[in-house]
Amino acid sequence: MARAPGLSRHTPRLAAAIDRRRDARVRRYRALGRIPEPRRADSMNTHTSDSRVTVRNAVAEDAPFVNEALADTFGSTMMAVHDELLDATGDAAAVAERDGRRVGVITYRLDGTQTWEILSLAATEPGIGAGSALLDWLRAEATRQRVTRLWLVTTNENLAALRFYQRRGFDLVRVERDAVTRARRLKPSIPLEDDGLPIRHELVLEWRL
Ligand SMILES: CC(C)(COP(=O)(O)OP(=O)(O)OC[C@H]1O[C@@H](n2cnc3c(N)ncnc32)[C@H](O)[C@@H]1OP(=O)(O)O)[C@@H](O)C(=O)NCCC(=O)NCCS
Repeated sequence: MARAPGLSRHTPRLAAAIDRRRDARVRRYRALGRIPEPRRADSMNTHTSDSRVTVRNAVAEDAPFVNEALADTFGSTMMAVHDELLDATGDAAAVAERDGRRVGVITYRLDGTQTWEILSLAATEPGIGAGSALLDWLRAEATRQRVTRLWLVTTNENLAALRFYQRRGFDLVRVERDAVTRARRLKPSIPLEDDGLPIRHELVLEWRL
């Protein structure tokens, strides 16, 4: 998803949580006296979600959580992506829960009968498996409904999302140069840069069933 200001923007809180998790991982490895080894290629598409995280279809009562999660994570529930201004809550959504708390949301739209576009994926408690569980859920649901392609748009500076999706079998299929520059005409609040990286291009990733 593009920024709404964009899916790709980490709030300072999320960014700090991701940094803390990465630092803890590096410290753990250093304590063991070894450099992290890359994961085996055959394990890259099969992430086991935390079994305490469950996912279900969103219902009307989830609307306040969904709206708040999107606004908090991406700055707004409206997104400017592929030259359109869209409602990021989409046609359908699923919510992740752990210990009775909502911990993440995925929204998507039915883009033709056999294709779904992921509009947003947000973990309100990052690093506990909510993002993975939501993606696993959507893939299972897509398989069940004979959808043949899932796709999404992220932006060039969102390195965490690029990593997250590629490690889960999504493939980069297109770069829309300067699409974010154009999107600022629809949504002027899209930041110009993040962590020193200019935000300019949209990247299309897909997963085929
Ligand atoms: C990208 C995003 C959705 C990932 O969600 P998440 O819930 O943090 O992701 P997960 O916890 O499932 O996985 C993240 C990492 O934590 C690991 N993890 C999973 N369960 C875990 C657990 N119980 N404890 C610790 N780590 C865990 C995963 O293995 C993964 O690491 P890896 O990528 O090295 O394999 C989240 O960071 C987010 O909301 N980002 C901001 C919005 C965004 O950019 N969305 C995507 C744009 S299209």
